[in-house]
Amino acid sequence: MAKSAPAFVCQNCGAAYGRWQGKCEACGEWNTISEESAAARPSGPGRQPRKGRLFVLEPLAGETHEAPRLPSGLPELDRVTGGGFVRGSVLLVGGDPGIGKSTLLLQAAAALARAARRAVYISGEEAVAQVRLRADRLGLTQARVELAAETSVEDIVATLSEGPTPSLVIIDSIQTMWTDAVESAPGTVTQVRGAAQALIRFAKRSGATVILVGHVTKDGQIAGPRVIEHMVDAVLSFEGEGAHQFRILRALKNRFGPTDEIGVFEMTGEGLREVPNPSELFLSERDLGTPGTAVFAGIEGTRPLLVEIQALVAPTTLGTPRRAVVGWDQSRLSMVLAVLEAHCGVRLGSHDVYLNVAGGLRIQEPAADLVAAAALVSSLTNTPLPADAVYFGEISLSGAIRPVPQAAARLKEAAKLGFARAIVPEAGPEAGAPLAVTAVASLTTLVADIAARRGQTTEDRGQMAEDRGETPRILQRRRPTPDNRPVER
Ligand code: TYD
Ligand code: MG
Repeated sequence: MAKSAPAFVCQNCGAAYGRWQGKCEACGEWNTISEESAAARPSGPGRQPRKGRLFVLEPLAGETHEAPRLPSGLPELDRVTGGGFVRGSVLLVGGDPGIGKSTLLLQAAAALARAARRAVYISGEEAVAQVRLRADRLGLTQARVELAAETSVEDIVATLSEGPTPSLVIIDSIQTMWTDAVESAPGTVTQVRGAAQALIRFAKRSGATVILVGHVTKDGQIAGPRVIEHMVDAVLSFEGEGAHQFRILRALKNRFGPTDEIGVFEMTGEGLREVPNPSELFLSERDLGTPGTAVFAGIEGTRPLLVEIQALVAPTTLGTPRRAVVGWDQSRLSMVLAVLEAHCGVRLGSHDVYLNVAGGLRIQEPAADLVAAAALVSSLTNTPLPADAVYFGEISLSGAIRPVPQAAARLKEAAKLGFARAIVPEAGPEAGAPLAVTAVASLTTLVADIAARRGQTTEDRGQMAEDRGETPRILQRRRPTPDNRPVER
């Protein structure tokens, strides 16, 4: 006789068990195992198999309807989705509580409604009056967004199936939704998954675009439903630093578009304002002439973006020096530090190192290696870098500076924002560059250049100090101290 099929399935990872248990051994989640209904069980040998329905197999070549897109009316949002919402697609928008997800989506719904599209906003967290209050603050009360405070997925799907199909349905948030089909409490993995499934079915059937809002836990994961990340067409993350006004929308997954584009917004008293030229924003709070800061000419997706990199190198008081980095990759920082030590004689073993990308931006490009190195050496030697210079270039383990993509676009953006110099890898586009370009072949050259600047600036300062009758600073710093050694050449 055939072994009976397992009837207990983990709703988080899909592992199957012969009997119920509290914890899933496969994924470690508690209370996610539930009995699958008899109908879902594979049929036994005694049963008549269902006769399959025939379907048509299609060739690869042929008539393809271009995914019809619906521009949202917010160009920064469209940039991230890849040119607008695709009909019948489902997007998950994650982010910390209070970051502005509801604000962003209400603005998107209002923009669509203004374009005479049907936009529905379902809030499971706030009452209708609270959403109205926000709309009032955003100046959107005239927009014809249809509003409801509901949490039952069956009711929502039934209501939306009546009348003309909405172009956009916003579900704020998926964690508050529940479906009759599942017997656990709202917010549990099983419920969130069941509710998402029902809403995704609705989207595919009706052609409406559905946006699910998801909360993010402290460790940055979209709470509970990692599983729904696989079910939706796109996962967008709305990020920002608490103290800053900037908000960045980023695609973590996108079946219909790129994942490297970012949308930049600014939170104001009247809601989110789009920032079409983010470089100006990210450079607006610069401390000119401070050691340890340098400007990176980066690329986010297809758009050049200038941002300030700040480094602090200070003698450590701990046995193991600290290496902290915000907005960049920890392992790339370790690599840059190792290359500085191995090839340029910059000793950082007894120094704490902090690196920060200004404005809460997160950089993923290796092209930021050179600017990070410049900021670190500048901080270590207490030498301000030229305020009108930008840097980009990848550092190889041998200490050579490697070219990076889209150098011309980076230079153009820097020139547009008034920068006069660029420190770039060799083999870059020097001819016809819109600003003075200094090519550096190796990291050693860069360190030597900064050290030479230090000589100049400290002599000037020393001269000024002597004029005032103080101990010249250069003499103070030349006294060798074991834990604050300047760059050795
Ligand atoms: P909200 O969209 O409710 O965040 P989420 O849905 O992600 O939890 O945004 C709430 C925050 O935004 C709140 O701290 C106040 C701020 N805010 C403004 O600064 N200006 C505005 O016009 C609005 C509507 C909100
Ligand atoms: Mg909200």
